[in-house]
Amino acid sequence: MPEPTQHPPISAPPSAQDLVVETDVNLRPYNTFGLPAVARRLVRIRSALDVRRVVDHPELGRAPKFVLGGGSNLVLTKDVEPVVLKVEIPGMRLVEERPDAWIVEAGAGVVWHELVQWTLDQGYPGLENMALIPGTAGAAPVQNIGAYGLEAKDRLEAVEIVDLVTGRAAVIPASACRFGYRDSIFKQSGFGGLAGKSVITRVWMRLPRPWQPVLGYLEIERKMAETGVTAPDARQIFDWICAVRRAKLPDPAVIGNAGSFFKNPVVTAEQCRDIIGRDPGIVHYPMPDGSVKLAAGWMIDACGWKGKSVGDASVYDKQALVLVNKGDARGAEVVTLARAIQESVYGRFGIRLEPEPVVV
Ligand code: EPU
Repeated sequence: MPEPTQHPPISAPPSAQDLVVETDVNLRPYNTFGLPAVARRLVRIRSALDVRRVVDHPELGRAPKFVLGGGSNLVLTKDVEPVVLKVEIPGMRLVEERPDAWIVEAGAGVVWHELVQWTLDQGYPGLENMALIPGTAGAAPVQNIGAYGLEAKDRLEAVEIVDLVTGRAAVIPASACRFGYRDSIFKQSGFGGLAGKSVITRVWMRLPRPWQPVLGYLEIERKMAETGVTAPDARQIFDWICAVRRAKLPDPAVIGNAGSFFKNPVVTAEQCRDIIGRDPGIVHYPMPDGSVKLAAGWMIDACGWKGKSVGDASVYDKQALVLVNKGDARGAEVVTLARAIQESVYGRFGIRLEPEPVVV
């Protein structure tokens, strides 16, 4: 973990009057689903000190707060009454070059894909399998983003948070983040959980040296076979991942969406055998602990949902795990569609699908 001296505590005297509080802000451009909602009050957070200013503010300090990153994991069903803290902390830099790793720091507001590109351009590979995942660097550890054989937890060194009650900053090492599949301490609200209690202001990524490719994922193997490139470099893997994602996942800048809408459910080997007995074609992945992960997209597809809609909320026709906004969808339509999918998957497979995004 980086030395504490590299991360000075937030010591400058905060002055509440520096804060700009915007009112009645349209959140449509700030959520990748493009859902309509208004923030009664919104404060842009451009540094950890800004969080401290909010905490020390005579009114905002005590008000409920909602932390907004890239809005890529969010379904807005109504206007947001809590004060929205829109995290826009910039900056990327190499903070340490160790024999075994490069340690790269990113402000929580940095766009994740820009961090992936920047690290590659600078010669610090290691994030390429997670190219094009929408959202910000600060949100990456919250739901432990992942794709093509790699998760944020595999590359995270530490996270800086600022407490929303005390205004104090702390550095949490990756080992204390309680990472799970699309889960972390930042999402958990039970004992010791940090959901709603703090703002992530900086992250440090650890990019192992020497670089080793993460292969073995079906789509990457297919690209290797197609091109005859058996020892791809990081840039090649980056290009392949971008091509694969562009082919089957909708670009939020073109068609609103929040990535996978449901988590892939994990069941016991016995449950899986039962399901295979009835549906031999189900796509499933045995896990190291003996459990089995089922492909939710396959199940939704098998129930005939591709292309189906509720209003302007629709199931993406190239990947049934992704719900999209065909234009003017409302959050309520997305939720109605999601519930109908959950019921139909439960009816056929006896599995309750759990949504990935936060529904507000
Ligand atoms: N499938 C279908 N029909 C569909 C969708 C999928 O038959 O409509 C089958 C596919 O053919 C494949 C299997 O289901 O055999 C799994 O599909 P895919 O490889 O597309 O991956 P996924 O399990 O649906 C997960 C992540 C994605 C990540 C990809 C690649 C979750 C919830 N989703 O999707 O992450 O990009 O693997 O690693 O774990 C995200 O979380 O937002 C996200 C996009």
